[in-house]
Amino acid sequence: MSYLEFKDLTVEFNGFRAVNGINLSIDKGEIRVIIGPNGAGKTTIIDMITGKTQPTYGAVLLDNQIISGKRPYQVANLNKIGRKFQGPNVFDYMTVYENLEVAYGGYTSLLKTILYRRKPEIVEELDEILKQINLYEQKDEYPLYLSHGQRQWLEIGMVLAQKPEIITLDEPTAGMSVEETFKTGELIKTIMKDKTVIVIEHDIDFVKQIASTITVLNQGEILAEGTYDEITNNPEVIKVYLKSDDED
Ligand SMILES: Nc1ncnc2c1ncn2[C@@H]1O[C@H](COP(=O)(O)OP(=O)(O)OP(=O)(O)O)[C@@H](O)[C@H]1O
Ligand SMILES: [Mg+2]
Repeated sequence: MSYLEFKDLTVEFNGFRAVNGINLSIDKGEIRVIIGPNGAGKTTIIDMITGKTQPTYGAVLLDNQIISGKRPYQVANLNKIGRKFQGPNVFDYMTVYENLEVAYGGYTSLLKTILYRRKPEIVEELDEILKQINLYEQKDEYPLYLSHGQRQWLEIGMVLAQKPEIITLDEPTAGMSVEETFKTGELIKTIMKDKTVIVIEHDIDFVKQIASTITVLNQGEILAEGTYDEITNNPEVIKVYLKSDDED
């Protein structure tokens, strides 16, 4: 049964349709990859899940309940959706560990965060996340001294610390080395096993590594949907996306 559903989703910005009548259905526990050229509407779709952008028509349903049209804080209060934005957003003046602590506390109450954050079971949980994101050795360092890829991992860890059911990742491997990209793929496949994950990506090798179903967006519409082999052999997709990618 579909867990996250987009119904006739349309977004207009000053009369321009950035997203045009999208119907999309994502199962619980699925890793869905969204690809497509620049400006296709990929980030806008995520913006609709998190309340950053309101649809002009249509709706987003989570577990058969409409979540679009809510304010971002209302969506955050559902405690179900974690988002990693395009590019790293971490607190440079806090250690790696403290960054995770802040994320764990969420937005609920600062006092609660301060009182409870050093509880042994929480420390254990955050240490576990540090190991999963390959940053246990760096737990007391400041993000300033981490590589770009490590900063991206830290942000993935911050999303995990919020224990969401759905995780959205917008170009998580941008700027990463080949090795870091591969490690990120393994990380997504293993630690996000019990989560529903939506990943926006451009790196087609990475897409192959993680995806079960791929949705291709172009000019605000779904151009194709299928497995890696189906998508990479689809003439339309090759024409509008894969080919121009090679020519870059
Ligand atoms: N707040 C906004 N106001 C006006 N236009 C917007 C706004 N947000 C996005 N757009 C436009 O909507 C279209 C889709 O943008 P979006 O950021 O969703 O694309 P994308 O597929 O994520 O692209 P990229 O691969 O470059 O990140 C673009 O033409 C963009 O300029
Ligand atoms: Mg984008």
